[in-house]
Formats: sequence, C-alpha cells, structure tokens
Amino acid sequence: MRTDVLVVGGGGREHALISGLKRSAGIGRVFCAPGNAGIGKDAILVPIKADDLTGLADFAEREGIGLTVVGPEAPLVAGVADVFRGRGLTVFGPSADGALLEGSKAFAKEVMASAGIPTGEAAAFTDYGSARAHLEEHGAPVVVKADGLAAGKGVTVASTIDEADAALRECFLDRRFGDAGRTVLLEERLLGEELSLLAIVSDDWVLPLAAAQDYKRIHDGDKGPNTGGMGCYSPVPSVHSHDYEEIVDLAIRRTVEELSRRGTSFRGVLYAGIILTESGPKVLEFNCRFGDPETQVLIPRLRSDLLEILLAAARGEELPASAEWTPGPCVGVVMASDGYPESSSNGDVIRGLEAASALEGVEVFHSGTAQNREGELVTAGGRVLTVSAVGASFGEARKRVYSGVGLISFDGAQHRTDIGHRAQIAEQIRE
Ligand code: GLY
Repeated sequence: MRTDVLVVGGGGREHALISGLKRSAGIGRVFCAPGNAGIGKDAILVPIKADDLTGLADFAEREGIGLTVVGPEAPLVAGVADVFRGRGLTVFGPSADGALLEGSKAFAKEVMASAGIPTGEAAAFTDYGSARAHLEEHGAPVVVKADGLAAGKGVTVASTIDEADAALRECFLDRRFGDAGRTVLLEERLLGEELSLLAIVSDDWVLPLAAAQDYKRIHDGDKGPNTGGMGCYSPVPSVHSHDYEEIVDLAIRRTVEELSRRGTSFRGVLYAGIILTESGPKVLEFNCRFGDPETQVLIPRLRSDLLEILLAAARGEELPASAEWTPGPCVGVVMASDGYPESSSNGDVIRGLEAASALEGVEVFHSGTAQNREGELVTAGGRVLTVSAVGASFGEARKRVYSGVGLISFDGAQHRTDIGHRAQIAEQIRE
C-alpha cells in the first residue's frame, strides 16, 4: 500500500525533501502546502499557508494523507504536530513542547544546563536596564539573541559595546521582533569551525544524519552580513567519525534524554548547531526541523528510504542505528536575488534551469520562485534556488555545481564562489 504525503512549507528544504520522498518505493501522491513554482513541477500544490494549522489538518484528513512532514519551525512552535496528533493524523515533527528548543533560546540554555551539554555562557534579561548593566560589566565581543523566533534575524554578533547596545535597543525599546524579543540573551561569542548536526529522533531512538557545514555570510571568505545560509556541503572531512559519534552523544542523545525526563517525547529532526572550539565542541543552538540549505545537500546523498525513516519516527517506532549515504560528497550553492539579505528582488526572469538540471549529478531546488503572467519562472524572495551536485570527490562535486550555477541567470543574481573550497583543499592534501 502506498502512502500519500503532505509536505508543509515552500522552500528549498521542502523541495529537497520531496525529491527524496519520491525516490521511496512506497510513495503515493505527494502534496505540498503552499510550495512554490518549482516545487509545483514535482508535487501537487495546495494553497494552504504553513501557519493555517487547522486548514492543514482538515486537508490531511479529507485526502487520507498517511504522513505529513512539517518543514518550517514556526508551525511546529505554534503546535501543528499537536493539532495533527490530537486528530489521530500521522505527522513528522515535534510537538510544541519539544519545538520550544528552537522557539525559546532561554529554554534551550536551561535544558543544556540540566543535561550537562557544553555551550557558551549566557544570561537572559527581560528589560533593557539590566541587560545594559550586564553589558557594561562584561564588555564585548558578545552575541545578542532575541529569545523567540525572529525569521533568522534576531541574532547580532557584536564586536563593540555600542553594537550590542543597538541590538538591545532594537529588541527592548523599538520592539523590532515583537514578543520574540521580550527576553534577550547575552551570550559569549564562540570561535571555531561550525558544524550542522541533524538527527532523526523517534522518542528514545536517534538516527544521526551525515555531518554538514553551512555558510552563513553573504560574501566569499565569510564576509558581509549573515543570511539564512548561502551554501553547504556534506560530509565534513575535518570531523572524524569517532569524534562525530561523541558529538551526537553530547548534543543529541543528552538532549533527548533530558526532554524524556521532563515527559516530552520528540518525534522529528533535532538539529544542533555546533562550534568546534579549542576547548571542544559546544552547542550554539537547537533547531527542531531540517536545516536549509543542509537538507539540499543531505538528501541527494541519502541512499536509505526517506519515507520509511520519517514514517517510523512519526509513529514513535524503532529507527535504524545509521543511514546509508553515497560515499562521495554533495556541495550546494544558494543563488540569491538582488539586495539579499537586506532586501530582495521579485519578478526577475530565471533562465537556464533545464540545462543546469541536465548536468550529471546536479539537482536544482527552488526556494523563492513564482510564475509570472507570461508563464515564465521568476524570482520571488531572497534565496531563490539551491544548486546541488554530488560527485566522487569535492573537486568533482564543486566542478559540477559551479557549472550548473554558471548556466542559470537572473538579473542581480548573487552566489558565493567558495562553497566546499576548504573541504576540497583538505581532500587534495590527503591525496
Ligand atoms: N542552515 C541554517 C538553518 O537551517 O537554520
């Protein structure tokens, strides 16, 4: 019997999930709500927004959906999985109490402290005066974080007290992030290589996914402002498998055990952002969902059956101890529109997608795309596409991905040219 699936969300992450699900032998119809123009070529689009929790559950019930996979964090934090489970529907994603790990950075810190998970020193404040006093006492550099969800914009890495003060004022006095900025964390700045560690969790079972590395800054050489992610690669050659197992224990298993002690069962993705500091790995933050663009490089490498894994986790059933991956790497390059990340440009015609997708090993995932009145594919947001390529080596994957990027054009397109470069150098040194 085939399983009909609903994927909630409309970005590159959801497009990659759909591509992975469609490779599964047991897949039936695939719906995406609300999706985007590119996803519409691979799934049936449903015009229901990701924050319409009841509308999504009504649809799943009406269509006999066997599995709903929730992409973005906001509906999970708002309790979409609770709504689904309350109606007897099978859903992949944690309940609101588990999603609070991403929904409240202060809560995540408290869980980490109870579970003995290494992380940066931090203090939480609910008013400007006490935060400012703490800032004067401890100085900069410091990281200022709005506690709640702020669409990826609530974190400032401040090099000076003035920068930190401006970020505090934005949260407390200008109320830029609304309720998400009612509580603010001042956190020690951690230095070191960053690692994205994603694991599928099914109550007490943990299935770690392959390591990935994300590039947050807009320009080559990690210059310029932070973005939602400009590219990614997997695996991460600088992390050896025994170290990785240790990090999974430290960051994921301890968290799942701590949540379980508190009576919270977690069924979904637990994603730890890790910094490999000189004094060992430390957890920077938790997310309660697949990463974007991490998913766009993990799914092309996954050889295990994605549908079976997600179904098992959604039902709280046993997971395999590990997944199967292509031995070669995957490199993903994000193409963003003019002005990103400060603004974005819509309506620019995108050309060259078919030629890029036809290249060996290359897949193109759509994030911000739409169709104009003439039926042309146009930009519709900041991050527009992720071009991903697998290869036998980082050298080959990078060659393929940048050939793909070179064939795609739209006015004002921006991308980084150094995605996976360090990994390629490491690979050449080993050869
Ligand atoms: N790649 C960062 C994120 O998904 O939050």
